[in-house]
Amino acid sequence: MKLFLDTANIQEIREAVALGAINGVTTNPSLAAKENIGDLESYKTAILSITKLINGPISVEVTAADTMGMVQQAEEIANWHPNVVVKIPSTVDGFRAMAAITRQGIAVNQTLCFSVNQAILGAQAGARYVSPFVGRLDDEGLDGMQVVADIVEVFHKHGIKTQVLAASIRHPLHVTTAAKVGADVVTLPLKVLIQMAQHSLTDVGMARFMKDWQSAAGRNRP
Ligand code: E4P
Repeated sequence: MKLFLDTANIQEIREAVALGAINGVTTNPSLAAKENIGDLESYKTAILSITKLINGPISVEVTAADTMGMVQQAEEIANWHPNVVVKIPSTVDGFRAMAAITRQGIAVNQTLCFSVNQAILGAQAGARYVSPFVGRLDDEGLDGMQVVADIVEVFHKHGIKTQVLAASIRHPLHVTTAAKVGADVVTLPLKVLIQMAQHSLTDVGMARFMKDWQSAAGRNRP
């Protein structure tokens, strides 16, 4: 399973890369807006900086809602860098756009996916990744991880090659469960990545090792 960092913040990407923990990055218009990116030119500049930090797939989302606009933007975005994957939403217009751009060989991450049926349509349209939004489903009182598990099961049963990318991750248990149900990729915020490294028993163990080591060093001092 691969881990992507879910951010458009360069410093966060640097921190995750230093941990040796991530294979790629996902962005979306909200994450871009948080970094004051509000047009395609500045989105491009940010993405090109990210490609210098990490040699892996970088998802960039279209900001048009109609098929024609999405296709035009996707063609432009795909030219920015060979590692760019274009995020297209799971709408009727989006599926049309996916079908058109995957025929040109452009890699697609199907975003805003909330059901198995939407995932099947994305796979049919040639998406490389499908991104079920776990946290947003949970927020609605639904079981987001069950949707991930169902998509994984259906894709395996039918030999579908589209990769399942668990998105909208809110806490470390989401990562563990996504791994257990067979998600190919999990994209997560830096906060959750750091939480994955932490355990209270590790802290207690470290404190004891340091204390024992220092007291032995004290005894052996002449
Ligand atoms: C990533 O591809 C998604 O855009 C992202 O995980 C959405 O996360 P959110 O539901 O926390 O906004």
